[in-house]
Amino acid sequence: MNKFFSIQFIAGAVALCVVLVPFEKASAQIKSEDAKMNTFVSGLMVKMTLDEKIGQLNLVTIGAATTGSVVNKGVEEKMKQGAIGGVFGIWGVKNTREIQDIAVKNTRLHIPLIFGLDVIHGQHTIFPIPLGMSATWDLGLIKQSAQIAAKEATAEGLNWVYSPMVDIARDPRWGRISEGSGEDPWYGGQVAKAMIHGYQGSSMKSNDAVMACVKHFALYGGAEAGREYNTVDMSRIKMYQDYLPPYKAAVDAGAGSFMSSFNTVDGIPATGNQWLLTDVLRKQWGFKGFVVSDYTAVNEMESHGLGDLQTVSALALKAGLDMDMVGEGFLLTLKKSLAQGKVTRAEIDLACRRVLEAKYKLGLFDNPYKSMDEAKESKEVLSAENRTAARNISKHSFVLLKNDAQTLPLKKGGSIALVGPLADNQRDMLGTWVVAGEWQKSISVMQGIKNLVGDNVKINYAKGANITDDAAFMERLNYFGQQLVTLDKKPVDELIEDAVDAAKKSDVIVAVVGESQSMSGESSSRSDIDIPESQKNMLKALAKLGKPLVIVLFNGRPLTLTWEDAHASAILDVWAPGTEAGNAIADVLFGDYNPAGKITATFPRSVGQIPIYYNHKNTGRPYTSGPTKFKSNYLDISNDPLYPFGYGLSYTTFSYGDVKLSKTKLKGNETLTATVTVSNTGKYAGEEVVQLYISDPVASISRSVKELKNFKKISLQPGEQKEVSFAITTEDLKFYNTQLKYDWEPGGFIVQIGTNSRDTHQASVWWGK
Ligand code: BGC
Repeated sequence: MNKFFSIQFIAGAVALCVVLVPFEKASAQIKSEDAKMNTFVSGLMVKMTLDEKIGQLNLVTIGAATTGSVVNKGVEEKMKQGAIGGVFGIWGVKNTREIQDIAVKNTRLHIPLIFGLDVIHGQHTIFPIPLGMSATWDLGLIKQSAQIAAKEATAEGLNWVYSPMVDIARDPRWGRISEGSGEDPWYGGQVAKAMIHGYQGSSMKSNDAVMACVKHFALYGGAEAGREYNTVDMSRIKMYQDYLPPYKAAVDAGAGSFMSSFNTVDGIPATGNQWLLTDVLRKQWGFKGFVVSDYTAVNEMESHGLGDLQTVSALALKAGLDMDMVGEGFLLTLKKSLAQGKVTRAEIDLACRRVLEAKYKLGLFDNPYKSMDEAKESKEVLSAENRTAARNISKHSFVLLKNDAQTLPLKKGGSIALVGPLADNQRDMLGTWVVAGEWQKSISVMQGIKNLVGDNVKINYAKGANITDDAAFMERLNYFGQQLVTLDKKPVDELIEDAVDAAKKSDVIVAVVGESQSMSGESSSRSDIDIPESQKNMLKALAKLGKPLVIVLFNGRPLTLTWEDAHASAILDVWAPGTEAGNAIADVLFGDYNPAGKITATFPRSVGQIPIYYNHKNTGRPYTSGPTKFKSNYLDISNDPLYPFGYGLSYTTFSYGDVKLSKTKLKGNETLTATVTVSNTGKYAGEEVVQLYISDPVASISRSVKELKNFKKISLQPGEQKEVSFAITTEDLKFYNTQLKYDWEPGGFIVQIGTNSRDTHQASVWWGK
């Protein structure tokens, strides 16, 4: 051993020890924590009757139904008997304390309840809908939103949130595309991790941490025809390659719980699917938490055709489901099933143990009232600090889809016609899933503009259109008898005339249009994803004036915007931005912040192109450009989307240099560095999301045309340029082969770097074993 080597060796060994010792310490600590938990839970379970154990598997909702018609009855009585393990649907220290009191003071074993809620994009301070949040491409901000949500939720006595939703969605007809991170499996996994780390922190025992519940396991986003609750059917290889990765990433990130989905997987409802809940989730991925069903999903297995309530409840338990949400199939039938030998005591014990372990991990046995603190509640909920963070996060989520002749940013002077049904509107700022969110506290676009520019800009306001004029559609939007969308007293033509009059008096038109709150989200599938006709008619009348027309677009899904793209001067997609909507929109419209968001779901030209996503497979007759006979295309429309995945403009412009590779031939475990120079060639400082894609043109199976592998978000001053490098290893080349083995195959690869999935620069590399 030469001197240099031995010094290196010693240094390496020391470094290894430095790394290993804390690692060993940490893993020993985890083991001893686990041992403590086992002893505690085992000790408790010895004292529990069979009924009490089954009670722990029962999750009830208190108060109003949220997403189904079934509501639990006799909750207090059941609670006293120990027949309830957790509740959801209530929040606030006063409420949660009152309920926890029943469990802790009035039951035989004083086992605390777990309190859950659909905290999806904020508790009271509402952030952009998840699809918008994902458009930030900023994992730090995404994590921050989850941390704040956790702080507000815990301040209200909650300890369990039904988020993140990590379902890959490639069909914008499906209303729940709004609740996820779009179409890409790798990026979906990154967002899932950031959310889970934000919610759970480093210890779920902390007063500010909640347990995440990853949903909906699995493949819910693959619902046929984009129709809610519909059948899903796909090959195993597609599951593993494209749909399962974000759930797996969530397990790797330490998610405490999972929610099973409503749909079937390989013909068996997910809620009773042993392959999914046990073989994949626990045996292959090593998940250690508990699985709850979706709302009455156990009961719904009856409609799926799997048998009566007793049969499906037994099936679900045996499959690996631990907690039954709302339907009480477990409560009503498991004892009988045990007596008849249809389930075993060990299966009931295992599910009960997992639920008790979750409570243990949350520290509820140490302090069942852990975060129920009025002082924290009044300090934390909707605090100025949280609202400031929300404003910042919202503006980062906006995507500039079009900006002809630098229409945006607007001048802080002159006059604007502010028109559209969403312009002076607070309710629809929040978007879907805001159970505790208060729309009365949100900032309308009109208010936000006034807050920013005061009297410097003259605002000529007109509503201009109803959200929709279609009575039948409106009735469905106003579900559960709510008045979410109403018709204006004025006739439709007069509304449009008002908007045109306002526009005539103004330098520029800002039309705030799109989807209202209940138009996307659960049970909000649409077969037509245009901006509703009522609003489009207003836009058409305005476009005729030939004045600059800026569309501020609210949407819970990609919409078909072919007409708008051809006729508007600028389109700013703001999704549903949350509590600080108006302030954040004003920041961007008037250039205080330069938009940098990029879409995470492809925008089609027409619904006929759906499903449409960037990482599709090639065909044997690949599309080139324009409709050609006997190629894989349509006769009447191009295959290209209107806006591709990863797309989004800026007030400035960026140019990309060639892709430079550190090597063009590599072997095995070597690392490749791919570098590109990005320059800000415009007049504004701006941020750019530099995206790395890899293609694997020859393999043992037909591969996607390209796949996102990494990204970096950079800031550049006007005239500034930066080198952006990505380290690429064989991990980035891996895929699931026909044996479902995750591996890479030697050969040629194309490395692509660019501003979106379509516009990239590329270089080739050969990678041998
Ligand atoms: C939804 C879930 C939600 C649950 C509880 C269901 O209908 O699919 O996402 O967590 O209701 O509200």
